[in-house]
Amino acid sequence: MADTYLVTGGAGFIGSHVANRLLDQGAEVVVADNMLTGDPENVPAGSKFVYIDLANESQYYRLDTCRPKAVLHLAGQSSGEISHESPINDLDINTKATILLAQWAARRECKRFLYTSTVSVYGDGVGGAAMSEQDPPRPKSFYACSKLASENYLKVFGGACGMDATTFRLFNAYGPGQNMDNMKQGMVSIYLAYFLNREKLEVKGSLERYRDFIYVSDIVDLLVACINDARSFGKIFNVGSGCRTRVRELVDIIKAATGKSDFPVVEIAGTPGDAFGSCADIGYVNEILGWTPKISVEEGIRKMVSFYAPGLLH
Ligand SMILES: NC(=O)c1ccc[n+]([C@@H]2O[C@H](COP(=O)([O-])OP(=O)(O)OC[C@H]3O[C@@H](n4cnc5c(N)ncnc54)[C@H](O)[C@@H]3O)[C@@H](O)[C@H]2O)c1
Repeated sequence: MADTYLVTGGAGFIGSHVANRLLDQGAEVVVADNMLTGDPENVPAGSKFVYIDLANESQYYRLDTCRPKAVLHLAGQSSGEISHESPINDLDINTKATILLAQWAARRECKRFLYTSTVSVYGDGVGGAAMSEQDPPRPKSFYACSKLASENYLKVFGGACGMDATTFRLFNAYGPGQNMDNMKQGMVSIYLAYFLNREKLEVKGSLERYRDFIYVSDIVDLLVACINDARSFGKIFNVGSGCRTRVRELVDIIKAATGKSDFPVVEIAGTPGDAFGSCADIGYVNEILGWTPKISVEEGIRKMVSFYAPGLLH
């Protein structure tokens, strides 16, 4: 019989890619989502969909028939900007939901729990160096606080319930399926949406800021490979490309891929809690698991343009 996996946030960007990959491998997949930012069209055909607010304990009976071999917890709210509009709401979605889900998994004797955290836990990092899992967390946004709290809760679930949790600190993820209507989350999707739908690009913050962009299939490769890999149990891994890309360079790559070399770009005020720069040190994940990303940012952006606006691709 095929193994069953619970993928939370499977109606969202990364979760739907994870769910699709597991289905391709012949697994049974249960997708749990409340459509906060998800899209019913993202829910993979062949999965079983459960509508549930994971932050609401009274709704967990909806997962009564689900007995997963592992939980892949990708549901969350991932906008720093939104976390500053309502820190309590962000705490509920990102931390309370993780605690309730981990308790649910423990009750069902499901010991394997994979969690997607964020680069934001590093804040501005240390002196511009690539961010390493050994660095002390320095959250600057409420979002980073709630994700870091979840990481810590999962560590304690490890000790208290024997849970084998793995945390993946994702850097800037992008790729087909990213929500192009959400103008508060996802640098690549936001900028590309400007290029496709508006007259000029408004960059919140300096063009000199830099980020580490990681293509979605590289993330999925790592998460799925880790499910049964005991070397990853109890660990925290950076998931980035290891490359620094300035916002200015990203804009130039999008200009080249869309052929809109003269597209106007203006800098406007930044968002609270936004880090100036972030880049992953991926030495540890490479050493322990042998993972390296395959897709360069130029290639990834071209894939995205060809997905959303094939007629524009240059
Ligand atoms: N996209 C990135 O660049 C990035 C970077 C770092 C970390 N992450 C983390 O990766 C995970 C997936 O991100 P994404 O980009 O796919 O986001 P997304 O917004 O596309 O997907 C998140 C999904 O979670 C669902 N959801 C939110 N709250 C829920 C709740 N209370 N109950 C049930 N479902 C709920 C949403 O409806 C959505 O379908 C998130 O936890 C996010 O914090 C993403």
